[in-house]
Amino acid sequence: MASLIASSVAATLLAAHVAQAQPAVSLLIDTGYASSGPLHVASILPAVSARKGQTFHFGSTYDTTEAPQSWFDTMFESFFKHVVSENGCKWDATEPEQGVSNLTECQACHSFATARGNSFRGHNTFWHQQMPAWLPGNFTASELVGNIIPQHVKQEIGGMGPSVTSWDVVNEVVGDNATTGMTALQCVLSKADWPTVTADGSGIPLVKDLSFIYAAFSTAFATAGPNTRLAVNDYNTGGQDAKTELAIGFQSHLTAAVGGFYTKSELATTFSTLAKLGVEAMITEMDIELATNSTAFLRYQAAIWGDYLDACLYASNCNEFINWDPRDDLSWRGLPAAATLFDGEGNPKPAAYEVAARFENFAAGKPEPCSTSSGTSVCKLSRH
Ligand SMILES: *[C@@H]1O[C@H](CO)[C@@H](O)[C@H](O)[C@H]1NC(C)=O
Ligand SMILES: *[C@@H]1O[C@H](CO)[C@@H](O)[C@H](O)[C@H]1NC(C)=O
Ligand SMILES: *[C@@H]1O[C@H](CO)[C@@H](O)[C@H](O)[C@H]1NC(C)=O
Ligand SMILES: *[C@@H]1O[C@H](CO)[C@@H](O)[C@H](O)[C@H]1NC(C)=O
Repeated sequence: MASLIASSVAATLLAAHVAQAQPAVSLLIDTGYASSGPLHVASILPAVSARKGQTFHFGSTYDTTEAPQSWFDTMFESFFKHVVSENGCKWDATEPEQGVSNLTECQACHSFATARGNSFRGHNTFWHQQMPAWLPGNFTASELVGNIIPQHVKQEIGGMGPSVTSWDVVNEVVGDNATTGMTALQCVLSKADWPTVTADGSGIPLVKDLSFIYAAFSTAFATAGPNTRLAVNDYNTGGQDAKTELAIGFQSHLTAAVGGFYTKSELATTFSTLAKLGVEAMITEMDIELATNSTAFLRYQAAIWGDYLDACLYASNCNEFINWDPRDDLSWRGLPAAATLFDGEGNPKPAAYEVAARFENFAAGKPEPCSTSSGTSVCKLSRH
């Protein structure tokens, strides 16, 4: 299925030791917040933003080709208020022929957002997957860095205009085994897969330094609106490690298992490190794979989602939170993974109610809840 291949992530995910056990967790929805019935996140978000002192953007992926449209219409009014095009803004869609801009699908997603009073985030200008067929081509390194990359980034970011909240300028450039002390180039993932190889069969990588990243970023910086955030977006990030040090967009494709997600305190440390540098953090592609679709795992999923959302809400520099794929039947991780907030029929799961409860708690000025994904032996929630 196109949308599965088309998801923004490579095969490697955060250490997925899928343990069969899951801790008993305590949730806000156990304490009197709604755990059934309608969800009112959209109406709570203005109060969330008021407490943050900045608009808080909470949303999900969307593509015009995804059915059922009526469900999207409802959910992007009442629950999600921020839109990311899952595939429509990638290089293969936006520059199918060299030098020919096609923003049709990217703009259609933007229009879908605007028509519902939602904001829009850009994903992505530069990635080693979903490249147009003409890349890699018969280009020199100087053509690539001096012309092809800048002209693509400029036509896309310029064409979409200054209202885009943030752009993933480079996506998944940092290798999994990046360690402190490596040269910057050593940290680059899948160098041979970048549009860097000649088409004449020689297979010689053209780019021997980070000039391609510099070309993308300097063009994005010159082209984007003054309030648009520019991100290095990457997976397996959030903790205290070398890979995380190079990213600011935390994809957060998680697994409900110890080691399959970062703890709230790890996230808080990472976000505050960035805040001290004057840099923003964002959760860009959250989903959580489950071993089974049992009540206990659905509760574990709700606890992890709640912890990630709280980590972002209570950080001074985190104002975008994106859920990757809005419902289980549309998830790139597959229906059995039950990795999203809404089930295969589009009904809210405990995680969706827990997210609403965390927003309500924050909007009401309450203190930060404890780390519920650690289990009830460590943390029990009560209504303050
Ligand atoms: C632009 O892309 C859309 C799909 O998003 C396609 O229908 C259309 O034919 C393309 N236009 C051109 C001129 O290639
Ligand atoms: C890991 O890093 C080493 C260099 O230290 C490199 O030779 C190797 O190819 C890298 N592996 C991957 C999967 O990136
Ligand atoms: C690549 O470009 C060079 C110089 O323009 C040309 O001589 C060569 O034939 C081209 N190779 C291919 C495979 O198109
Ligand atoms: C999980 O179970 C619920 C209710 O039994 C069902 O509606 C949903 O489709 C299931 N999801 C998956 C991924 O099996």
